[in-house]
Amino acid sequence: MARRLRVMRTVPALRRAVELFRKKRETIALVPTMGALHAGHLELVRQARRRAERVVVSIFVNPAQFAPHEDFGTYPRTWGSDIKALNDAKVELVWAPSAQVMYPEGFATRIAPEGPAKAGLEDKFRPHFFGGVATVVAKLFTQCRPDFAMFGQKDYQQLRVVTQMAKDLDLAVKVIGVPTLREKDGLALSSRNVYLSAGERANAPLLHRVLKASAERIKKDEKIEDVLDVGRRQIDLSGFTLDYFEARHAETLAPIASRKDGPVRLLVAARIGKTRLIDNIGV
Ligand code: PAF
Repeated sequence: MARRLRVMRTVPALRRAVELFRKKRETIALVPTMGALHAGHLELVRQARRRAERVVVSIFVNPAQFAPHEDFGTYPRTWGSDIKALNDAKVELVWAPSAQVMYPEGFATRIAPEGPAKAGLEDKFRPHFFGGVATVVAKLFTQCRPDFAMFGQKDYQQLRVVTQMAKDLDLAVKVIGVPTLREKDGLALSSRNVYLSAGERANAPLLHRVLKASAERIKKDEKIEDVLDVGRRQIDLSGFTLDYFEARHAETLAPIASRKDGPVRLLVAARIGKTRLIDNIGV
């Protein structure tokens, strides 16, 4: 029988739907999103479908992870096309709480993640961010009770923070990192790419080119610090304002000087015009 997409707006309604799945011993995969869905999100849905019998997608633009000067007000909201895409992808449940439902009057708890959340990468430029992400994701996990939760590797530090949080809080969910989907020219798919002007869009794939070339050079045993220096210069000279270009241990996100010290991940964040882009690659 064809499954119909249902949108849940309150915690009790969501709980009832989830309980029905669980009673039937059906496994659940959650895809947390802030909407403005693109092919990268739909890839998360596809991967969720491969792992679990039921797929729940949450759509919630989480005010707690935006600083006052950031783009909460203008963050792209594309409800109609999101719902159509999820319907076409045969998702059965969308969890779309209002801010009032997620953070009711008197809400007074915030998770303060450490470890990978204090790596000196995104946290250095967005100090409020991972507290907001960890809090909402912990709530999404307890609300939806998924067996699996799918996160894009594009937000690599977020993936590490959420993985650590689920482990530390003994949440019975397996966090799965899904490889980044890219445009043909290498630009990582992101809801914020719509902010790019035509000229910025043409320039934006440089970040991926630098990541790829740097990973190749490190694989050939060139010194990591030298490779990073060259990459930083290239990014600086190409019209970006660089926030960071770093090599880190792929699991702990601690600084790493050599491939001998563990798996290496290269991570970059840079601004072009008004848009901030992040990307990363494994070595
Ligand atoms: O990556 C995102 O879209 C958000 O940070 C998330 C995980 C949905 C939490 O609001």
